Amino acid sequence: MTENSAGLATATAGSTGPTGPSEDRISAEARRRRTFAVISHPDAGKSTLTEALVLHAKVITEAGAIHGKAGRRSTVSDWMEMEKARGISITSTAMQFPYTSPTGQDCVINLLDTPGHADFSEDTYRVLTAVDCAVMLIDAAKGLEPQTLKLFEVCRLRRIPIITVINKWDRPGRDPLELMDEIQARIGLRPTPLTWPVGIAGDFKGVLDRRTGNFIRFTRTAGGATAAPEEHLEPGAALASAGVDWETAVEESELLSADGSDFDRDTFLGNATTPVLFTSAALNFGVNQLLDVLVQLAPSPNGQIDVDGQRRPTESPFSAFVFKVQAGMDSAHRDRIAYARVCSGTFERGEVLTHATTGKPFVTKYAQSVFGQQRSTLDTAWPGDVIGLANANALRPGDTLYRDIPVHYPPIPSFSPEHFAVVRGTDPSKHKQFRKGIEQMEQEGVVQVLRSDRRGEQAPIFAAVGPMQFEVATHRMATELSAPIALEFLPYTVARGVDAAGAEVLKNQPSVEVFTRTDGVLLALFSTKWRLEGFQRDNPDVNLWSLVAAGDA
Ligand code: G4P
Repeated sequence: MTENSAGLATATAGSTGPTGPSEDRISAEARRRRTFAVISHPDAGKSTLTEALVLHAKVITEAGAIHGKAGRRSTVSDWMEMEKARGISITSTAMQFPYTSPTGQDCVINLLDTPGHADFSEDTYRVLTAVDCAVMLIDAAKGLEPQTLKLFEVCRLRRIPIITVINKWDRPGRDPLELMDEIQARIGLRPTPLTWPVGIAGDFKGVLDRRTGNFIRFTRTAGGATAAPEEHLEPGAALASAGVDWETAVEESELLSADGSDFDRDTFLGNATTPVLFTSAALNFGVNQLLDVLVQLAPSPNGQIDVDGQRRPTESPFSAFVFKVQAGMDSAHRDRIAYARVCSGTFERGEVLTHATTGKPFVTKYAQSVFGQQRSTLDTAWPGDVIGLANANALRPGDTLYRDIPVHYPPIPSFSPEHFAVVRGTDPSKHKQFRKGIEQMEQEGVVQVLRSDRRGEQAPIFAAVGPMQFEVATHRMATELSAPIALEFLPYTVARGVDAAGAEVLKNQPSVEVFTRTDGVLLALFSTKWRLEGFQRDNPDVNLWSLVAAGDA
């Protein structure tokens, strides 16, 4: 049997019989996996933290490798060399690396990317359907920001446990207790800090480890390029070292305990609490602690619930669901890559799977696997891993692939769009292609499609969570489907679900329009959230609901 890009199987005992790896081997590999995403607002430090995690996992020796940050040495091309040499993989979608904790726990980390402002799209939300846990990264000076809140909302609806990281503690920022209050008040999760900062924001000396009572003192390294040395001091030595800052940290930690804010794994996994860590990703402070929390406390893949509400155990025959389909924008490479999360069993390249939606065989032998900035072959994958399948034109987000025992995972819900545009074909002779293309964009989940009697069949509406989705759809309609289109943007920013009676009331309202989405859901579009609030105040009987993840709750 060949091994995958992270050399995952080399260290693990287990049989590979003629029918594939044993159930024990599959569940052991599943238990090693931690599959998570970082949810944050742009600039909170997600790239810096990603790099710091890889640095601390000892996959690279110097930060700067991934993004070639100014003032740091390595370049992206060095990174690609390292990627090959060390068996880690990075793409715009997923990054995988092995990590052994100080206690000898041997893990494989799958870090899925949630793109930022310019490339924010419905795919960003879909990525969150493929993770077992999320790290909510917050800038210490800014607190909770809009994009973080949007992504959090999806995690909440999908009941994904959240680890909170307060970053940039080396810079002036807010009071830590105030930040805890904000988290509790705005998102309803009780923060249960595992570490507490010693030194105010801007004077980050280290953290109080609330589980051991010790002081973890960090030392800066030049430019934050290498892992920061840390010493673990008993309370007596901590007081001598950090004086009043230590006393303050201890007092605040006691206040938290008195308030019931101590970590509890069951309520964390049950989405009632969130463990909190304080970091400076740029200085590499607190990053070890985050890795250890991921290893010790974050859930590993635990089987996926199918459409009938049954959990398919990880050691069952192979199954996966597609959570993202990326179409090549380059006309020379018009293929589509489908990213699938493995839910059970093992993926062996070359095996023939079944595509649950059509019942047809799906051949992985000729489907090029993609994992890495450049395409490379992925031979084996286990529960929690992401496989990229090129030229998989039949696959759509939400589709299930399986082997031997059939399974159908639930569809990925449509998320609440915030951008809307009327679509018109610019070449009247391409009427048929236009209709077909609109249908295809909708089926592939590139954009959502809305219609209304008022605007007619010739002028459907594209709806998206990020404007980049319009660019992709416009480009593909022109190049692949020979149906060039023009978009006329509509002045709406908020969508709510509404029933037929509510739609009647809304019909004659200014700055509001009601559409039917292809899945039959009625959507009321409002110009602003103030317009929506005003309408709700005046019409408390009209039932409007949030569509963040319609059909999913
Ligand atoms: P993002 O991926 O979430 O968008 O954020 P990114 O890591 O690119 O970080 C945004 C900026 O914040 C960068 O500064 C980065 O260096 C800085 N930063 C990230 N984490 C920390 C931290 O813990 N402490 C401090 N002080 N700064 C942090 P930049 O000026 O935009 O880029 P660069 O020149 O530093 O690379």
